[in-house]
Amino acid sequence: MISSDKKVLVIGASGGIGRTVSRLLSLQGRSLVLSGRNSASLQKTVDDLHNPDAHEILVADITTDIGRIALACRMEQGDIEHLINISGINELSAFTDQTANSIEQIINTNLTSMMLLTREILVRVNHEKPLSITYVGSTLGAIGIPGYATYCASKFALRGFCEALSRELSDCAIKIKYFAPRSTQTTMNSDVASAMNTELGNKVDSVNLVARELLKFIDSSAESLHIGWPEKLFVKINGAFPLLVSNNLKKQLPIVRKYIG
Ligand SMILES: NC(=O)c1ccc[n+]([C@@H]2O[C@H](COP(=O)([O-])OP(=O)(O)OC[C@H]3O[C@@H](n4cnc5c(N)ncnc54)[C@H](OP(=O)(O)O)[C@@H]3O)[C@@H](O)[C@H]2O)c1
Repeated sequence: MISSDKKVLVIGASGGIGRTVSRLLSLQGRSLVLSGRNSASLQKTVDDLHNPDAHEILVADITTDIGRIALACRMEQGDIEHLINISGINELSAFTDQTANSIEQIINTNLTSMMLLTREILVRVNHEKPLSITYVGSTLGAIGIPGYATYCASKFALRGFCEALSRELSDCAIKIKYFAPRSTQTTMNSDVASAMNTELGNKVDSVNLVARELLKFIDSSAESLHIGWPEKLFVKINGAFPLLVSNNLKKQLPIVRKYIG
């Protein structure tokens, strides 16, 4: 079990996975700092928690300097033992149909802002004091999938960032961790994306399953984890024999084209 004397900061606590993670953490008796851009959505998360008065809300947009500094200053207070960054955005689209603004927003939210926020935190906190920082990536951070070129780029890079930083900080008490779910039942997946998943026979996990796996992972000594079978296996096959996965995805492309144009 995670010790209960320190707080957990959840960024993206108003989202599908974030809300369930927060509920399970509160049931473990943890005190939470819940963050996202929208105070009303965060209040809705708090209202569903065990012992609502034990938690605080920190409204912050991680794509802004002011939002990142507010989060880093909260970390500097020293009472947070785990930071779980579950924020992220996605868009299913043919790459050529994505606007420049959408590409920039996805890379900024899922990657650049994460890196800038991490730097703001690392320059403020004591590196000798235990702290874990967990980033939520995706299976699509290890397998490039048609219709998700920009999202894959952001999550591949996030995975690389975590791996390198985890090694760079391996001589101090700060642990950098990377958790990668497969498709999960949240509103991040549009109706079109859900219909495509169904037609492709892609398995979709419940938020409860993903949240439980995430909490087990945070409590473990593992630095990274991909969940979902057979996706875990595909991640390994894609690393060793990418052509096999390319051939399989090429067979699926006519179905994908129906949904992305
Ligand atoms: N759902 C899936 O199929 C799936 C699969 C694999 C990985 N993931 C990853 O899991 C994570 C959570 O996904 P989800 O399905 O729970 O998504 P979601 O329901 O859309 O929630 C996304 C969360 O991110 C927050 N967020 C977005 N932009 C932000 C910003 N600029 N600053 C601060 N917070 C921001 C949102 O809060 P506000 O909008 O209220 O600010 C919300 O709390 C994401 O990183 C996603 O890439 C999801």
